[in-house]
This record gives sequence, C-alpha cells and structure tokens, in this order.
Amino acid sequence: MIQRFRFGTPIETCAVIEELSVTEGKLPFFDLTYSGETDDAISGLEFIYTLKDKDIVYGLGEQVRGINKRGWIYTSCNADDPHHHEDTKSLYGSHNFLLISGEKLFGVFFDYAGNITFDVGYTHRDTLRITPEDWNLDVYVITGESEKDIVKQFRKLIGRSYIAPKWAFGYGQSRWGYKDAKDIREVAAEYRKREIPLDSIYMDIDYMERYKDFTIDEEAFPAFEAFCAGMMEQGIHLVPIIDAGVKIEEGYDVYEEGVKNDYFCKDTKGKDFVGAVWPGRVHFPDFLKAETRKWFGEKYAFLLEKGVDGFWNDMNEPAIFYTEERLASVMERISELSKENLDVNSYFEFTGLVAGIGNNVGDYETFFHDMGGMKVPHSKVHNLYGYNMTKAAGEAFDRLSPEKRILMFSRSSYIGAHRYGGIWQGDNKSWWSHLLMNLQMMPSLNMAGFLYTGADVGGFGSDTTEDLMLRWLQLAVFTPLMRNHSSRGTREQELYRFDNCDACKRMIEIRYGLIPYLYSEYMKAVLADEMMFRPLSFDFTEDEDARGVEDQLFLGDELMITPVYTQNATGRYVYLPEEMMLVRMRSLMDYETEVLAAGHHYIKAELSELVFFIRKDKAIPLGAAAMNTEKLDVSTLKLLGYDGAEYDLYEDDGFTKKYDIDSCTRKIVS
Ligand code: GLC
Repeated sequence: MIQRFRFGTPIETCAVIEELSVTEGKLPFFDLTYSGETDDAISGLEFIYTLKDKDIVYGLGEQVRGINKRGWIYTSCNADDPHHHEDTKSLYGSHNFLLISGEKLFGVFFDYAGNITFDVGYTHRDTLRITPEDWNLDVYVITGESEKDIVKQFRKLIGRSYIAPKWAFGYGQSRWGYKDAKDIREVAAEYRKREIPLDSIYMDIDYMERYKDFTIDEEAFPAFEAFCAGMMEQGIHLVPIIDAGVKIEEGYDVYEEGVKNDYFCKDTKGKDFVGAVWPGRVHFPDFLKAETRKWFGEKYAFLLEKGVDGFWNDMNEPAIFYTEERLASVMERISELSKENLDVNSYFEFTGLVAGIGNNVGDYETFFHDMGGMKVPHSKVHNLYGYNMTKAAGEAFDRLSPEKRILMFSRSSYIGAHRYGGIWQGDNKSWWSHLLMNLQMMPSLNMAGFLYTGADVGGFGSDTTEDLMLRWLQLAVFTPLMRNHSSRGTREQELYRFDNCDACKRMIEIRYGLIPYLYSEYMKAVLADEMMFRPLSFDFTEDEDARGVEDQLFLGDELMITPVYTQNATGRYVYLPEEMMLVRMRSLMDYETEVLAAGHHYIKAELSELVFFIRKDKAIPLGAAAMNTEKLDVSTLKLLGYDGAEYDLYEDDGFTKKYDIDSCTRKIVS
C-alpha cells in the first residue's frame, strides 16, 4: 500500500508517474518533532523515527558508506565532488528513498527538490531524523509484505527504468585525454591487436571545439562522420560527452539561439546568468522549462546524424568553477590578506576562500528558473537540474530515434531521471575503498530505479595500480555499465598498459560470456520493476548473519557476487545463507566449481581468479567471448551450475524498443 502525504505546496518534480490522492491525517511511523533549533516553528520541524538496535536503513541511492546507511548523516544536495570519501555528505545524485527493515518494515520517499538531510543514527544511534530545508514536500509511505515487495511498489510508482541498448553491456574504454582521432584509433587498434573485446570508446570534452556543446573540433577530428563510420565498422561505438553549460561566444549558434529565445537561467537582475566551467564563461540552459528541454534535446541530432548512438551528460549538478561576483570578492579579500602575516586564522581563511570558489552552494541562490511563468530560485530545485537535462535528451531521443535505443547516462540525477537514462557513479578515485563503494551502491541505486549503472572501472582520479584494475574488473564484469575511465594527469589505465594485460583480457572475455545472462537479468528487472542487485538480507530476511553482510550481493535469482576488494589479499571471507556452488574462474575455459555448505567460509582467490557463487539448484547460461556484443553467439549457450537446473533466458534484438517478456523468453536446459 502506498500513501501520499502533502506538506505545504511542493514544487512538481515529476519523480512519480502515478497520481495518488493525498491522504489526510497523521503520517504513519514518524513523529513530527520541533527541534527547537530555530525560532520558526515550521522550519524547526523534523521527521523523527526511533530505530531499534537491529533495524536496518537501506536506500539513499548514490551515497557514500555501506548498504546499511546507519551511523552517518547524508544530505541530498547534488555535488560535483571528485575528492569524495567516507565523510562526504552529498554526491552527484539525490535519491530520497529509504527502506526501514527491522521491528517495522516500510519504505518512504521524500519527494522534495531542495536540500534535505538524513541523519541516520549519526547524532543519536537510535534516531532517524530527516530535515528538509522547508516544508513544501510530498512524502510517500509504502508498506508491504517484504523488502522486495516494497521496492517493487515504489518502482512502479516512479515508472519503468530506462533501457540501454545491448551494445552498452560491452566493455567501454574511456579517458579524459584522448585529444584527437589518432589517439582514439590507436586505442581501438591496441585492443583489436590483442583481441580484447571492446564495444565502445568514449569521447571526453577534447572532441569539442573549445568545449562548446554540439560542435566538433575539425582539426582534431576531421571528417567526423567517416571516422565514426570507420569505428562502427570495427564494431566500436563512439560515445561523446555533453556538458550542461553553453559557452558564451558570439557566432556560436547554441549560445545565440539560447539568448534569443530565453532558454537560459536568469540572474538576480533578470539577465542570463553567467557561471564558468570548461569553456570559461557559460550560460546554463533552464532545463526546468519545457521549451528549453525541447530545444536542447534536439541539439543531440547534430551528433546522431553523424552516426553517434550514445552520450553521457556531465557537469549537470550543475558544476560551477566560479561566478564573476564570487571570484571578484575572493580576489579582493586575498589582496588584502596578501599584505598580512598569515596566522592560523587568516591562513585558513585564505585557503578556505580559494577552495570555496568552485561549486559554492551560495551561488545557487543567485540564479533562477522559469517554471510555468514562476520565477524559482535554483537553490529550491537544485537537485532537479541534471535530471531535467537527461529528460531533455531522453524526450528528444523518442522523437529523433523512435525505433532505435540510444545510450544515455548522466552524472547528476534525481529519482525520475531513471526513466530517461542511467547514471555512472561520478568521479571516484583509484582507491580500494571506492571499489567496495561501487558494490555497495548497486542495490541502493536499483531501489531508486537506476539499473543501467556502474562506476569508473580502475578509478577516475589518482593513479591506479594493475592489481586494483584487475580486482575492479572482477566486480565490473557484473555491472551493466562496464567502462574503464580515468582523468587526465593520472596514470594511463587502458588494459594494454599493464603487465597483467592477459589476465585483464580474460576478465573481459568472461564478461562477454556472461552478457547473455546479465542482459537477461537486467531486462527482467526493468520490465518487472525489480532490482538486479540485492543485499543478501532481501532474500534471507530473518537470517541475522545475512542481514549484516556489506560486501556480497545477489544478482538476479542465480548469482551471488563476492569480489575481492583488498590489496594483496589472496582470498576473502564469505557468508553463505544456504548451500551454494563456488565458481573460481581464470578464463571462460579454465574454472572449477565446488559446492559449499551454508555458513561462513574463507575462500581462496588469487589475483587472476574471479570468484562468485551460483545459488542452490540454479544455473546460469554462459556463452563464448566475441570481439563485440554484435558478434556474440547466443545459440550455443551452455549452463553453468547445478545439474538439472534450467534458466529462463530473456533475449531480444538489443537495439529496437520491442521488449516483451513472454515472446522474448526461452528456456535453456542442460
Ligand atoms: C568530469 C566528469 C569526468 C570527465 C571530466 C572531463 O569530471 O565527471 O568523467 O572525464 O569531467 O570532462
């Protein structure tokens, strides 16, 4: 059952697709408590729920820390934070859905476009305290018979998740630093020479002419259409980036059209707001305005017409390097400070001033959106910005490419964006802790509707190591998005750069062998509003040990994934809530299996060994590798798992929008 409660006059987010009538009366489960921290009785209100010792709080989508969110405080305020770590409070997306399991079981969605804080037992271990910035929001409370049931009801409420083309399940290579067609051709050639499967190469901001959206640097990428076709002949899709900010430059059509038609956000004086990102000064399209979305969305045609069929939307929190006003005031203060003998206070003031220039939340109060004629400060709808950029693209793809699926994933998001694209997990680091975080985020993102997702494999910032890359691949073989991406200035991390390239190659081959299964599970999850990745406790709700597991996940109904995420470890502890079959795989041809009894085990896993489990009486289809997804042969799948088990394989053409569970499912028997 879902109940909707309304406080004040909320701003429409379009997160929910079903129009539920508002329930009058008291919100169940929560107390509305006045914190006494402010003089204003309304803004001092908070939602309070008392947690029992064993209660688990799942959810919050893209956030730091574990599967169980207890013990930390999180804020939904979409942030460009390439240096995030354990004590970060906001990442790139806002996914205000929680699922509380323990003494009571319920889900709750705070549909609220502004900043909202979730103190999940941080201040007081037994108190869940939720504080929106103002009291204009809808709250949906969902009860049901199980965790899975509640998530399913929620997912139905927010609408079917975006469906990526099948080629987007292939391996992708990316780096911020491929500066021209030659660099990209070289990457393709290196992969093909070594016969490492590859479906896509990503094009970062360098492909554009002076970082202008919907342009191509003709010198770096002459005859782009032919270049794109040439890549496609090799079975490689080019996937360009699109940024939120539009460069201010006379003669640049996107800029000029935007100014002429009032498509940009306005400043306090009603002029087009100016911020700075990669190209220097930019205007930000007002994606909350339908006309702007239509206009911007149709700009993707510029690249679609050249043969591109996938994009990633970036810097759409939006990231702002500086505003002129802030820069000027900081410069002024720094010039004053430069005359001083900096002591502990003035030195920290100085470093704080410099660090606070970029992505300063204060800047969100200085520009405005036009929502149906109403002038709304950005700070009130901040978390909807990236979502609406992706919506602009998604809606346009339905018009521009009604038959064929276009790959789309975004950095910033809000619930609702999941209907238009996937997301990647933002600018992580080449850290072992971020490998674990990649795993821990999968179920919470699935709860929020984001099924096409994954992290930058190997880590985006800082220098990766070849063992980290190999271990990361051993997780990423299972995630729908499997893209190796890194920042300029870091160690190059294309797989052929490493001495252990052969072991990496075998992991990619395993991925391709698994694609029939992964794609099938992804499609089943999308079409049934279910999760592809689940915490163990979702299936073993009463099992105390399963409820505490933070580093293993179920994938579909057949697999349990158990990656190694610790440097130099040659194995790991696993918990089996029931008997399962361990698979230790070095390559598609070289693996062994062993049935292990329920309980705690230490399993060996040398660096080049992928370890995972097949659940009791289950089997998964396994195919042969191929150089790209198009060449996968699904007619010769064999079953890996328990004798006599069968598998229902969902399989469609992978690129049209004709999805149908009944006509596309067939039984694989051994
Ligand atoms: C942002 C993106 C990253 C990209 C970079 C340059 O940091 O998150 O993926 O490589 O911008 O465009």
